[in-house]
Amino acid sequence: MPADPHPEKRVEVIFSASTIAARLDELAVEIAARRIDRLLVIAVLKGSFVFAADLIRAMHANGIAPEIDFLTLSSYRKSKVSSGQVTILRDLDLDVTGRNILLIDDILESGRTLAFAKDLLSARGAARIHTCVLLEKKVPRAVEIEADFRAFDCPEVFVVGYGMDVAHRYRELPFVGHIRQ
Ligand code: IMP
Ligand code: MG
Repeated sequence: MPADPHPEKRVEVIFSASTIAARLDELAVEIAARRIDRLLVIAVLKGSFVFAADLIRAMHANGIAPEIDFLTLSSYRKSKVSSGQVTILRDLDLDVTGRNILLIDDILESGRTLAFAKDLLSARGAARIHTCVLLEKKVPRAVEIEADFRAFDCPEVFVVGYGMDVAHRYRELPFVGHIRQ
C-alpha cells in the first residue's frame, strides 16, 4: 500500500501550534527567573528536537544564552510500548563536569528515560540538573522522578507530532495530536 501523504488528516489536535508557542513563552520566563549560571541545555533525542528548538529561541527572547548538546536515547524502539530499558544510541560531545544543566525531553511517562539521563549526568559530575518536559502523563511512575518544568499535562493516549513519532512518522506535524483509530 502506498504511504498516506496526509497522515495529519487522521490526527486529532490536542495542543495546537499556537497553544504550544504561547506556553513556551511562559516556560522560558519561568526558566529565566531561576537565573541559572552558565547553562548547558541537553536535549534528549529524537523526540524533543522540535520542543528544544522552539524553547531555546523562547529562552533567547528572555536573555538566556545557553550552550547546547544532544543525547540520543532509546526506550521505545518501534513499538508503542516501552521496553523498560533505556540505552544510549549517541552520546554527548561536551563534558558536563560542574555544569548547570537544563535536561529537556518530550514526555515524562514511566520516568525511566528522564531518570536514566539525569543519573548519567549526575554520575559524570554535573552540578545542578533541572529537568524540563513538554508533556507529563499522570500515570504511576516506574522510577521516582518529577520534572522541574513542564509545558502541559498530557491525556493518557499515545501522542504524535511536534517531534514525537510512531515508527519514525508524524514528527513533522506542528501540533501535538492523537491518532484516531
Ligand atoms: P518514560 O521513559 O516511560 O518516561 O517515557 C518517556 C519516553 O517515551 C519519551 O522520551 C518519549 O520518547 C516516549 N513516549 C512516551 N509516551 C509517548 C507517546 O505518547 N508518544 C510518543 N512517544 C512517547
Ligand atoms: Mg523520547
